Amino acid sequence: MSQRNVSLFHVLDPRQFDRTLLDDLCALTTRLRQHAKSRLGARSLQTLLPHKRAMLYFTQPSTRTFLSFDNACHLLGIRTSEIRDPSISSEVKGETFEDSIRTFSSYVDVIIMRTHKAGMAAQSAALMDRIERPVPIINAGSGRDQHPTQALLDIYTLERSFQCRGGIDGKVIGLMGDLRRGRTARSLAYLMKNYRDVRLVFIAPNAFAMERDIKEHLRGNGIPFEETDSLASVIGELDAIYVTRLQTEHDVGDESASFDHARFRIGPAQLPALKPDAVVMHPLPRGPELDPAVDRDPRAMYWRQERNGMWMRVALLVKIFEVEGELPD
Ligand code: NCD
Repeated sequence: MSQRNVSLFHVLDPRQFDRTLLDDLCALTTRLRQHAKSRLGARSLQTLLPHKRAMLYFTQPSTRTFLSFDNACHLLGIRTSEIRDPSISSEVKGETFEDSIRTFSSYVDVIIMRTHKAGMAAQSAALMDRIERPVPIINAGSGRDQHPTQALLDIYTLERSFQCRGGIDGKVIGLMGDLRRGRTARSLAYLMKNYRDVRLVFIAPNAFAMERDIKEHLRGNGIPFEETDSLASVIGELDAIYVTRLQTEHDVGDESASFDHARFRIGPAQLPALKPDAVVMHPLPRGPELDPAVDRDPRAMYWRQERNGMWMRVALLVKIFEVEGELPD
């Protein structure tokens, strides 16, 4: 087995991150983006990992996660290959998923993957742990289950938004929309156990409420949460509202038909009730739940959140390949 970085190798699940690592990643993200501002700094970043190659295996649609990982790799000098359509890979000849992943690992040094089904990143990591040349697996979204790197960039965005107000500790964070099938909200909820005195408010219709596994995790970690189907009754308490879209791609039958968009949306009519220093976040892409008119409000944080994603992913790669010590001061 090759030498393993003890702090970070595979990135599979938000529960593997503790507060020290989160704080460290946030500080590193800020440091890296500062570096990249000057030509000299940007050039020095590109010399960190030119000896590494990455595979982007994205067999589920993606715009932001794919582009931000691709650009994060290039910022560090990492060369990338991609498969976005399994119908043009040997999987159509009947090659198993595991053999495909093993093949990627023969050519690259990290595999970043987004899959339709839950558990495939974990399955790939388990395979890596059995073979002679294991490479790190990064879960870039596993079905409706988890999206750990999105949760990391969400944490970074929240920490930055509240940096003059003590960070995430002590804040009330609302998560709204299709919480049952939205992996971003599920992953972000997992990370909340790392913050003190945080309270979560889940805003969703009953049929789209947060699943029991997440609620049990929160109870087990002493993180208070409440559930409501009325945004109006809680909006004034929130320091952040994390809006998510209806995940229609996971529909069985016409289950999305019952979702009342008018009650779970942020638009000009809701903004006056939101605290003046609250922030509106969204993992994007958006649907009717987030009116484009909100873009003009200074509390809209989602475009910044999107940019933060690339820098957090740069930091993640720097940590995985342990080149932080090579960054100039
Ligand atoms: C999210 C995803 O793919 O889970 N998008 C993203 O990665 N920014 C959110 C979504 O599709 O609703």
